[in-house]
Amino acid sequence: MKQPKIIIDTDPGIDDAMAILLAHLAPDIELIGLTTVFGNVPVAQATHNACILSDLMGGKVPVATGSAHPLNRENDRYPDFVHGKNGFGDTSMKPPITKAIEQGAVDFIIEQVSQSPGEITLVPIGPLTNIAKALEKAPEIASQVKEVVLMGGAATVNGNVNAAAEANMLSDPHAADRVFTTDWPITMVGLDVTHQIIMDEAYLDRVHQVDTPIGGFLRRIVQFYLDFHRSTGIDGLYTHDPTAIVYLLKPEIFTVRKGAVRVCTDGIAAGQTIMNLSGKPYLGTAWDGIPTSDACVDVDVTACLEWYADIMSGN
Ligand code: RIB
Ligand code: CA
Repeated sequence: MKQPKIIIDTDPGIDDAMAILLAHLAPDIELIGLTTVFGNVPVAQATHNACILSDLMGGKVPVATGSAHPLNRENDRYPDFVHGKNGFGDTSMKPPITKAIEQGAVDFIIEQVSQSPGEITLVPIGPLTNIAKALEKAPEIASQVKEVVLMGGAATVNGNVNAAAEANMLSDPHAADRVFTTDWPITMVGLDVTHQIIMDEAYLDRVHQVDTPIGGFLRRIVQFYLDFHRSTGIDGLYTHDPTAIVYLLKPEIFTVRKGAVRVCTDGIAAGQTIMNLSGKPYLGTAWDGIPTSDACVDVDVTACLEWYADIMSGN
């Protein structure tokens, strides 16, 4: 199988770091760049953290700085109770050697996709602001990308910020609606599956080779994320962002449904991804004529955890 060439759009973030380093270690993925966005942390911190991750990957993966706030409003709230103020569990970090490139995230995405039509997969694992801006500036990328595989949303379950919204979608619902109403191949890896995949402490100890730079780094930063989840009553952490990477290479372990997705942009349900699973066109409504998306609604949890373990432990 041809190696998927991917750009990860990210707000690192502890589970983002897990996803990015998993993609780096996976033999069948070519990671051609990281584009940063506000979300778990301000975009400057996200870029700093992405440069730390690039160092861990040998300093060859370019980092391009993206959006500091959502399309339609300022943003000054960050979930430091989930990822820590520095986004890596408030663990101490040496300043990175890698520097962000001059080119911004939106132009990086447009240039890379348009130079390799049909080859680049976009993997957004944060708010979708950069992706929406790229579509606004260069709508033709919709026909040039290979596909979009994003972590976010919820098709058949409640949100994780409130009963309606998952965090990435709520952070910029206007951008999310723009992305889902575009006619391109898009797969939502949402809470329907990521809330099923729980890594407990014994698993985290077993799969991260603490005597290696990447394993030791990840085991150090996940502790804060694990402690947060434990404070909510689960004995482990939800595997959000890495699951988008697992889908890329093991789509067969997921159950996918198709339907038009609209994202609520205001009111108490802002950020809700509402997927039309009825098979009816809902003529004359907001779902009428909207291209269908794929959404992962179930997963073989054991296979997912086994694959993550295999890649992380260098098998
Ligand atoms: O809801 C989970 C998502 O929000 C993940 O991408 C996590 O990193 C945060 O960005
Ligand atoms: Ca993220």
